Amino acid sequence: MTLSALAPRSVAVVTGGAAGIGLAAAKRFAQLGLRVCIADLNADRLNAAAKEVAMLAANGADDVLAVETDVSRVEDLRRLHQVVGDRFGGTDILMNNAGIQPGSAIFGPADNWERVLAVNLSGVILGTQIFVPSMIERGRPGLVINTGSKQGITTPPGDPAYNVSKAALKAFTEALQHELRNLPDGKISAHLLIPGFVFTGLTARGRSEKPAGAWTPEQTVDFMIERLDAGDFYILCPDNDVARSLDERRIIWAAQDIVQNRPPLSRWHPDYAQAFEAFIQKQD
Ligand code: NAI
Repeated sequence: MTLSALAPRSVAVVTGGAAGIGLAAAKRFAQLGLRVCIADLNADRLNAAAKEVAMLAANGADDVLAVETDVSRVEDLRRLHQVVGDRFGGTDILMNNAGIQPGSAIFGPADNWERVLAVNLSGVILGTQIFVPSMIERGRPGLVINTGSKQGITTPPGDPAYNVSKAALKAFTEALQHELRNLPDGKISAHLLIPGFVFTGLTARGRSEKPAGAWTPEQTVDFMIERLDAGDFYILCPDNDVARSLDERRIIWAAQDIVQNRPPLSRWHPDYAQAFEAFIQKQD
């Protein structure tokens, strides 16, 4: 059912589609016969990426659109929606994937916080509000895939603005799926993609070679398609260092901070270091 949206000639829009996970998804969609629009900053990078996508598309460049877009700007997103509608007649798959991680600090500059929240959170909310009503009206099977992060679930210390943006994105996507599944005759579902460590421009930090622990963007997209097919809402990706079982223990530990009235982020609190280690070793 989920994957009926991933049919040849369906239309996919991928933000942050000029690089990393977004580009890998756009290529995969093109390989599956979809028409694809990639939206990203910077026309040159976008056009180079569009050529790569077109090489895989059934009808080459005719099936691919590249629209320079800053997802933090509502007028850019409205234009994107218009251009995709004019060219392809509507959207079936919206992948709100554009994201930044410039680093942040609790008492760091306000403009840095604003930018991270504008791109990672407002960009997703606005993208959803602008695209999804017409996707519903279209009456076809559809998908909304929002790219979250494990950092929005276990919220490790070190980058609070990013964590806040991704935690809020998780809450938004959960509410969106609740809304969509309660629509009469609803054919659209929302999904939260939760990548592991993926080697991309976002995480490269000067490295030119993929660290052993990281997945490639292509592996991440393969996993995403497999889990969409299985109907998962939470697409919790492992990587070469972190298996699902370890993620599960980390997530349970974080939730138990509240239930057991521990200090927040107790996983990184010296008084709880031993207990946390014992907890993640424990087998059910
Ligand atoms: P990337 O840096 O390779 O790709 C992100 C793309 O988003 C870039 O092409 C960038 O130009 C674009 N972008 C940035 N700001 C934009 C804006 N305002 N408007 C339009 N496009 C914009 O990074 P990656 O890793 O592919 O990231 C994709 C998503 O995956 C992000 O949301 C990121 O937070 C998330 N993620 C990545 C992980 C990783 O290990 N790489 C782990 C968890 C989440």
